[in-house]
Amino acid sequence: MNIKTRKEFPDFVAFVSDVDLKDDLTVEQVKKIDDAINKFSVLVFKNQNINDEQQVRFTKYFGEIEASGNKSNITKASDRRLSTDLADVSNLDKNNKPFTQNDPRRIFNLGNRLWHTDSSFKKIPAKYSLLSARNISKEGGNTEFADMRSAYDNLDTKIKDKVESMICEHSLIYSRQRLGFDMTQELSSDEIKNFTPVEQPLVRTNKSTNRKTIFLSCHIGKIRGWIRPDSMCFIDDLIEYATQSRFKYDHQWSQNDLVIWDNRQTMHRARAFDDLKENRDMRRTTVLGEEKLL
Ligand code: OGA
Ligand code: MN
Repeated sequence: MNIKTRKEFPDFVAFVSDVDLKDDLTVEQVKKIDDAINKFSVLVFKNQNINDEQQVRFTKYFGEIEASGNKSNITKASDRRLSTDLADVSNLDKNNKPFTQNDPRRIFNLGNRLWHTDSSFKKIPAKYSLLSARNISKEGGNTEFADMRSAYDNLDTKIKDKVESMICEHSLIYSRQRLGFDMTQELSSDEIKNFTPVEQPLVRTNKSTNRKTIFLSCHIGKIRGWIRPDSMCFIDDLIEYATQSRFKYDHQWSQNDLVIWDNRQTMHRARAFDDLKENRDMRRTTVLGEEKLL
């Protein structure tokens, strides 16, 4: 296995080659990948022509799978295209046709265009995400990543002190509100309970490396003890700061790329493409986090 980094950003994003993710991996290989995730936060594997079962098997080397169900999205079980081991991050319905413009599932998925960390709205937020590009768009559809360790390290001391013990509420309702999509109007009162806000600290420590990160996400709608408008202004300023080009990597997909990112120390977002016409088939497996943060 070979791990290469970029000259200008030696500790963020690495490219892993000489490993076939279809194969059984040795304990040493798994440890090498896991250590690299801790160190580089984002790993890119090229030419990994895997199916769902192989993706799930590879993911389980790193922990338990976080199921994609009614706490993760608004797709009914009977409308799913993929098993609940996979988050369907495509723009496709179960007949592999692009969602039409006003389909609530399409509009819900547009939330991935906002900077976020996966499942920060769950009591135990996600650890790693593994995204496999089965079919890519001809134009657009990049994914951007931002390094929340460097963003934390480069904060002014005053801001570091201010955020140190801040606690934020995260919910899919908040991120979708930013799109003008009011889930409370679309869903029944029973369904909406799945999306009750969850509190998370704004500063967290990666226990494997002891490095601090800012745990930001567009799912944040409120800071504990603050009113919502002040919270939104403060969080948006932080997101703008933390996603400057000096902290960012822009991934342009090739078919069969697999990218792993560490949700404890990065944010990411999808970029626009012609989703009413093109077929972008991206499938994500997610490694469950290991702990509640509060
Ligand atoms: C995800 C996600 C971005 C993309 O899989 O969690 O946000 O570019 N994907 O599809
Ligand atoms: Mn995501």
